[in-house]
Amino acid sequence: MSETLLELSGIRTGYGRIEALHGLDVTIARGETVALVGANGAGKSTLLRVISGLQPLSAGTVHFGGQDLARCKAADRVHRGIVQVPEGRQVFAGLSVEDNLTLGAFSRRRD
Ligand SMILES: Nc1ncnc2c1ncn2[C@@H]1O[C@H](COP(=O)(O)OP(=O)(O)O)[C@@H](O)[C@H]1O
Ligand SMILES: [Mg+2]
Repeated sequence: MSETLLELSGIRTGYGRIEALHGLDVTIARGETVALVGANGAGKSTLLRVISGLQPLSAGTVHFGGQDLARCKAADRVHRGIVQVPEGRQVFAGLSVEDNLTLGAFSRRRD
């Protein structure tokens, strides 16, 4: 059996009184490639915000590499290898495609 890398369990979150994710479970194995497909407003971006630690949860857990990320801030998740490559025009226009990709491929140590 393949090793679980990312595991979301019972995720509930939303915006004010609007609940966007209603108890979502996702398990992704190391080395697996997953596409998330859904209608506009289905909650895809919200799920990515949850994984990156930008979206507060009302219920549920996120484990990455077997560790609970509940107390892991967004910036620290980047150091652990959780990175988003934004869509559309949210790139550095003055940099090449390669440089834009390289920017997301490493993090500076703080010590
Ligand atoms: N900043 C926000 N304030 C209020 N509601 C939001 C906000 N962002 C998203 N939503 C709502 O949360 C739900 C999921 O949105 P979203 O995660 O952006 O979907 P997707 O990325 O799949 O299009 C939708 O009902 C959307 O209207
Ligand atoms: Mg979206």
